[in-house]
Amino acid sequence: MHQDFFPPGIAVLTGAGISKESGIDTFRDADGLWNRVDLEEVATLEAWHRDKKKVLDFYNRTRAMFRASGIAPNDAHKALARLEREYEGEVTVITQNIDPLHELAGSKRVIHMHGRDGEIRCMACKAVFESDKDLTPVSVCPNCKAVGELRPNIVWFGEMPMHLDEIYEVLERCGLFLAIGTSGEVYPAAGFVLHVRRHAPRARTVELNLEPTDNKSLFQEHIYGPATEIVPPYVARVLTQGWR
Ligand code: APR
Repeated sequence: MHQDFFPPGIAVLTGAGISKESGIDTFRDADGLWNRVDLEEVATLEAWHRDKKKVLDFYNRTRAMFRASGIAPNDAHKALARLEREYEGEVTVITQNIDPLHELAGSKRVIHMHGRDGEIRCMACKAVFESDKDLTPVSVCPNCKAVGELRPNIVWFGEMPMHLDEIYEVLERCGLFLAIGTSGEVYPAAGFVLHVRRHAPRARTVELNLEPTDNKSLFQEHIYGPATEIVPPYVARVLTQGWR
């Protein structure tokens, strides 16, 4: 009934590729982060238990980089904000990125499935706080006063992504699913396109990426190039002509 009455939703999955032209490195490209840094050393719970200083310093540096002048939303982030403003149905950005560039571009419905820079969590009392201060191995939880239990509220390898129930609901009611700037190598995000095909079989699925990914065959339409060049015209097309 809803589907007949309201325009169908648009679900947009974004990955590191959308922020590349804002100056933030991706993970798996030749110059990507995981080709320079051993993820086992900085992005797992085991690493945090083993060497809190190393892990916290890594995220302190990441935060400083996000705050550095020159890091700003690019035309692809802005186009998605425009899509949300101008499309009469629901537009949801599901991002794997921890950077704040979708929000800075003006997007309102943003789900950070891998967490968000600027939030910290206490491993002792589980409370989550907004904070842009550096963490150290002796930082004190503002809630329970535990020492050394604060960590970035970011999903590490082996941990469960956030907001999955809400995400699957968004996917199941969408009429258009876009995957932008993601290699499709990390689950569950890599499986979202299949989830859409199974649970929203009338939805159109489109991959927008610098180059074809291993998931290419799962999408009905493919648009390749730098995000700042391909996303704005695609959004303009959807707003004027729809997506069929
Ligand atoms: N425009 C569009 N796409 C681009 C651009 C660009 N300018 N530059 C690179 N890409 C593409 C690459 O071709 C690649 O397919 O973006 C993709 C980036 O892939 P990854 O580095 O694997 O990033 P992502 O898919 O977001 O990684 C998923 O892995 O390490 C974890 O938690 C981390 O959220 C991250 C998750």
